[in-house]
Amino acid sequence: MNNTIKKEVDIDIWITHIPHLLDISRYQNILDSKDYKRYLAFPISSASSQFVVSRAMVRTALSSLSGQKIKPDQWRFEYLSNGKPKAVAPGTEFHAHFNLSHAHFIATVAVSANYELGIDIEPLNPHIQPADIRAVLSESEFLDLLQLAPGERSRELIKLWTLKEAYLKLLGTGMIIDPARIEVGIKPLRILYDRSYPVGDDLFTRNWVLDLNGKTFSLSLATWITDERNPSITFHLFDPRLDHQKYSQQFTYISKQKKEEWIWNDYIIYSSDAAAPTKHGQP
Ligand SMILES: CC(C)(COP(=O)(O)OP(=O)(O)OC[C@H]1O[C@@H](n2cnc3c(N)ncnc32)[C@H](O)[C@@H]1OP(=O)(O)O)[C@@H](O)C(=O)NCCC(=O)NCCS
Repeated sequence: MNNTIKKEVDIDIWITHIPHLLDISRYQNILDSKDYKRYLAFPISSASSQFVVSRAMVRTALSSLSGQKIKPDQWRFEYLSNGKPKAVAPGTEFHAHFNLSHAHFIATVAVSANYELGIDIEPLNPHIQPADIRAVLSESEFLDLLQLAPGERSRELIKLWTLKEAYLKLLGTGMIIDPARIEVGIKPLRILYDRSYPVGDDLFTRNWVLDLNGKTFSLSLATWITDERNPSITFHLFDPRLDHQKYSQQFTYISKQKKEEWIWNDYIIYSSDAAAPTKHGQP
């Protein structure tokens, strides 16, 4: 990203709810012609809605990061060897890091001018057990999870998995490498080793729980810290029901502050070590 752009925050995380019924007219000003052709090639399905809404959110988030100097439809996407996309704005000096994840009716994207990113979101499934994904767990992770009380185990398992996947997406390899080579510690949740080597202090990770009307998700972020500070993080909601000019509302997570949770309309987001909030309300 062009250094002349001064951003108060380092990483923006945008979240959206994919609607059942897509009104494509809301997105036509945001998508480019290539996206639109791709949308037309989809059979009408939840996959086409997921593509359109996620792509519109990514473009909106990137343009917001540029201070609206780049219009949403100006961004082009290039793909690294293992499929990780990056964004460029042809004819300008702008580029930005982003990473996207989908789970059911939720999509989330992290964008940053400075930091390479990996993000992953998964529903908290109370039935999943460590044996179900044994192949992607290290021996110590498997044993640590078995030590937990049954009620806690599936939740910690999904948190661990989202963190591992966010890290694999940060590397850009995804599952091309064996996920069991990465070792995650559970309490506190953190990446400990990659191929038996301790990860450095420059790896920054966070995990949150997102509660949307009682449906809960684990959301993990991984980034390399390129300076001495912890990055500050701002959450935005991309709401496709609103006019896209007024699309975003935001709330800020400053990592050094103690504030642990945000409650906003139907969304509750809290850092994963905090107790779950008990009721909906305004911050
Ligand atoms: C990256 C990967 C772990 C994502 O898994 P997932 O749980 O199905 O999907 P998520 O919803 O969390 O993330 C999907 C998004 O990650 C991004 N992505 C794709 N490949 C990626 C990679 N190698 N690294 C980081 N992000 C990647 C894309 O934006 C993708 O969304 P899109 O297809 O709508 O653009 C998985 O696709 C993978 O292992 N890919 C790499 C290996 C591979 O299959 N490469 C083939 C293409 S060359």
